[in-house]
Amino acid sequence: MGNNTFLTSPPMGWNSWNTFYDQVTEDLIISTADAMVDSGLYKAGYEYIIIDDCWSARERDSEGHLQPDPVKFPHGMKAVSDYVHSKGLKLGIYSCCGVHTCAGYPGSFEHEFEDARQFAEWGIDYLKYDNCFHPATISSEGLYRRMNMALRSCGRDIVFAVCQWGRDDVHSWIRSTGAHTFRSTVDIQDAWKSIESIALSQLEKQSYIGAGCYNDMDILIVGMHGKGLNPETSIGGCTDTEYQTHFALWAMMSSPLIIGCDIRNMSDETKDMLMNPELIAINQDPECRGCYKLPTYGSPDAFVLLKQLTGNEWAVGFFNFGDSTAHVELHFWDMGLPLGNGAGLHFHDCLTHEDLGVKTESYSEKVAAHGCRVYRVSLENA
Ligand code: GLA
Repeated sequence: MGNNTFLTSPPMGWNSWNTFYDQVTEDLIISTADAMVDSGLYKAGYEYIIIDDCWSARERDSEGHLQPDPVKFPHGMKAVSDYVHSKGLKLGIYSCCGVHTCAGYPGSFEHEFEDARQFAEWGIDYLKYDNCFHPATISSEGLYRRMNMALRSCGRDIVFAVCQWGRDDVHSWIRSTGAHTFRSTVDIQDAWKSIESIALSQLEKQSYIGAGCYNDMDILIVGMHGKGLNPETSIGGCTDTEYQTHFALWAMMSSPLIIGCDIRNMSDETKDMLMNPELIAINQDPECRGCYKLPTYGSPDAFVLLKQLTGNEWAVGFFNFGDSTAHVELHFWDMGLPLGNGAGLHFHDCLTHEDLGVKTESYSEKVAAHGCRVYRVSLENA
């Protein structure tokens, strides 16, 4: 048992909900764990395999314990966690602070301490904890504190991933609950409009970002391309350009990177996007600062995001939410470099992996509709 400082950067993993909905089974988890390692995702930093809602039996057992659905998980949850751990991965599970989960399975309300002990016995490493069906007289804030206490005393390090959908100004109080991550938006959908509205809604909240408690902008839709069993998520799909912008935004905005597509069947484009080491490094940067909009010169639907990284480095993103190609321009003055200083900024392109050399005073680039450019920038003294 550690000291609960074990989660020092946004968690990275995979979650069953976007693609597999209520069809979560032992076979799916085992084959996904295999794919996580064989595809290279584990090596790239993804480690949590998270079982979302619909894993349990409809009722607790005669002693009041949660039990997995015997058809979906015929060998029980410990066997699944042993397998996942044998691959070097970690296992996540789902519950809810109400009497039922959002899909109507037993919730943890008034069972918090016994459920936390049960999860620890099964070898669970991550708990996604939802917000449905709790008594109107008890706030979820109080119930999250309760589950936090249960988890922190259960004898095992378990990431506490609260799912509050951005309600009740969650960003303003969530750190008091001990949660490691907090869902800050409605459920994502496999559509450009959803990416756009989630990103814009969380840009205003970037000042609440900090190590130890991360703003979870929901499961990634990268690579779904309209496929999947979840009728609420799978509503059309996006282009690879849009998925790239989505991944770059989640990376720069320090969201957990939780994959939602079927990683057993990924295209090369999807793999390259999800395993881009330079975007992952920006996401996992130890200082964990939020990113902020800079004044942008050029097309009105485009904007520049700046994120201070550890040491003498910055991540700079050019994003175009418009429907036609944009011209985006960054003036180094706005990053803190005085005019005529003589120093230049060294630009490295994190999407093409090209070294762009040293630029002075300003940098501009064309950005495709719904597209982005991301650079790692450092100061080179004159
Ligand atoms: C809520 C959450 C989703 C998912 C479902 C499961 O809608 O926001 O991410 O966990 O519940 O029922």
